[in-house]
Amino acid sequence: MAFGKLKSKYFPKDFTWGVATSAYQTEGAWKADGKGLSIWDEFTNDRKFKNGNGNIATDFYAQYKEDIQLIKTLNLKAFRFSISWTRIFPEGVGQPNQAGVDFYHKVIDYCHKKDIEPWITLYHWDLPMALEEKGGWTNREILDWFSYYVDFCTKEYGSKVKNWIVLNEPMSFVGLGYFMGYHAPGRKGLKDFLSAAHHTTLCQAHGGRIVRRNIPEAYIGTTFSCSVVSPKNFWPRHIKAARRMDALLNRFFIEPALGLGYPTDVIPGLNRIEKYFQAGDEELLKFDFDFIGIQYYFRIIAQFSLLPPILFANEIPASKRNVKTSPLGMEIYPKGLMKMLKQFNKYKNVKDIYVTELGVCFDEKLIGGKLEDDNRVKYYKKTFKICRRAIIKGIRLRGVFLWTLVDNFEWADGIKPRFGIVYNNFRTQKRTIKKSGYWIQEFLKK
Ligand code: BGC
Repeated sequence: MAFGKLKSKYFPKDFTWGVATSAYQTEGAWKADGKGLSIWDEFTNDRKFKNGNGNIATDFYAQYKEDIQLIKTLNLKAFRFSISWTRIFPEGVGQPNQAGVDFYHKVIDYCHKKDIEPWITLYHWDLPMALEEKGGWTNREILDWFSYYVDFCTKEYGSKVKNWIVLNEPMSFVGLGYFMGYHAPGRKGLKDFLSAAHHTTLCQAHGGRIVRRNIPEAYIGTTFSCSVVSPKNFWPRHIKAARRMDALLNRFFIEPALGLGYPTDVIPGLNRIEKYFQAGDEELLKFDFDFIGIQYYFRIIAQFSLLPPILFANEIPASKRNVKTSPLGMEIYPKGLMKMLKQFNKYKNVKDIYVTELGVCFDEKLIGGKLEDDNRVKYYKKTFKICRRAIIKGIRLRGVFLWTLVDNFEWADGIKPRFGIVYNNFRTQKRTIKKSGYWIQEFLKK
């Protein structure tokens, strides 16, 4: 098979080509129609936060029809979006907010009208503030709160939606939000991290069970962030440091679901998490997902370090390594996708694999009303070739979702890093298809 000119017809017929977004990053309308506040609303509207907010974001709440039409125009077939928990339950639990419930019916119905397959993510980081005030993910009661929310959503939308994703990247929201304080809710320290991590892993499996119970024919998955981790050099202590970093970033949340427990084999200090266990938790952590999603963005070079304790490893920043970096300061390393696909494919009880986010960001401007993002086109060409090669090698890869449709609010980093295949003018909310968008359209043309 020559890869000179890659075509979508070289992929299996039923391969899913989609695009992914999340509620907080796109919807805006932060207080509209009875919506309650989430941890991200509070975090970004605090005076200490300097990178804007998602109060308007990309105005998806008002422009969902135009955006779904864009997906159609670009020949993509699937739309992964998330539900904002506080649009459904402003206080996290209790009485549902009918206007919020109706909004997602409208989004789903419009997808069907345009023959776009909806894929719902139940949790993409926007925890209700009312629940954070009670401890959020560090409080074991989150199991009840999350179950209540998932039960409602799956009963409400289950007859219309087959594909369900329980969580988006637990390591990101637990690590950045409860250990580093860089993301909402801005908490720091090992205690918060370990308790939040354990409750998240329990919810990951329990969410899966609720979807299965309420929608027997559902196709159920969950997503994981992943990073290629290489040692600084081949000194044994750096090699071991890289192994620990890999366990933390790539194994921590998937292995308990597969029945393998937390990766204490290489990070013995992680056994402190057992403090948060109750009888029967080992069983409760497991769920037999139909698929997993992996989301790969960058490579990490690890070295031995006394800090942080337990991990005894840190990262050599990409800025000090003379490599290509994105505006987020991460190394752009498309090649690493193959390594991650192989690594996750090795787990025997992982069934189907999707790349549920694939993208790259740049700091971009329209020039003469156009955006010639050849660098993004190159990135997609390279990574699509990797996907094709992975399938030939027998890796159980079933689809790819681009991150993302329209440039959006990139969390703590604001609107400067642009990930879209469609440019957004955040003042006028006018969309302009980038060269990469046209390239995708052509690539997917029948
Ligand atoms: C998240 C997205 C985010 C993207 C780019 C992923 O970690 O799921 O919400 O925008 O990475 O940083």
